[in-house]
Amino acid sequence: MRTFDSVSAIRAFVRAAMQDGKSIALVPTMGALHEGHLSLMQRARGDCDLVVASIFVNPTQFAATEDLGRYPRDLGRDSTLAQQAGVDALFTPSVDVIYPDGDQTTVEVGKVAQLWEGEARPGHFAGVATVCAKLFQIVNPNRVYFGLKDYQQLKVIERMSADLFFAHTVVPVPTVREPDGLAKSSRNVYLNPDERRSAVIISKALRLATQQFSEGERSSAKLLEAMNCVIEADQGVSVQYMAVVDADTLEPLNQIEERAVVLLAAKVGATRLIDNVLLGFPASRRGENGPSKA
Ligand code: PAJ
Repeated sequence: MRTFDSVSAIRAFVRAAMQDGKSIALVPTMGALHEGHLSLMQRARGDCDLVVASIFVNPTQFAATEDLGRYPRDLGRDSTLAQQAGVDALFTPSVDVIYPDGDQTTVEVGKVAQLWEGEARPGHFAGVATVCAKLFQIVNPNRVYFGLKDYQQLKVIERMSADLFFAHTVVPVPTVREPDGLAKSSRNVYLNPDERRSAVIISKALRLATQQFSEGERSSAKLLEAMNCVIEADQGVSVQYMAVVDADTLEPLNQIEERAVVLLAAKVGATRLIDNVLLGFPASRRGENGPSKA
């Protein structure tokens, strides 16, 4: 695996591969790699001839009050894991490379970026869209890989890619979970043992929604009520938002007719976690590893 930190070097490397007729995958990450990230890389490895992964803790998607300063970083460990997952080139730019002096351009996505996370974290998706647009321009991939774990982020990237006529395909990858159901996240390391025990309630509540949906329940209010009962049983989890939404527009639904997503954001102690489940999608799309026991 090769590692690059300048735009010209990664571009030259990718251009040479393209001239050899190779297809290019890009997996953007902020590092602190876990099995969720690795599943994106492995999927990319299976699909494309050359796999590029980026590791860049993007300052513009963190608010001043958020965890940018203490975001976990370990490039040595991440490099080993990325190589094992089949990555050919790791792009690890500095902040100055991505946002050089004089940089003045921000990409703002509309409605789909303003709901939910957009409301809870003003400016977050502008930061995400901007850094992803830059990475897409630098690498010029055929396929880009994003986790369903961050469902709204995936939708924002799909919207931006279509609106700006990026030629790549956006490939969604199912959420990888811990054995008890908690979605893998770089932020799980912030949880103390009590919080870690409480955090499992989030995936339990989402699983209950999946179960009730599979038994025929189509009322959002009923699903949310059932989820609330599960979550209220644990004092350690405080819900920020919980909603049954249209899978494309992310607008709330009263009644589920077609594909829907249940979005959930909650604080466990000082740590903010997000998770979701897809309802009415083919199993191949959901493709999650569930908890090891029911
Ligand atoms: P990061 O949180 O590092 O996540 C990188 C990618 O891994 C995202 O596409 C995310 O959805 C995916 N991912 C995270 N946890 C996952 C899990 N448990 N299962 C499957 N996929 C998972 O998301 C970002 O970084 C940044 O916003 C980024 C897109 C890199 C822009 O800075």
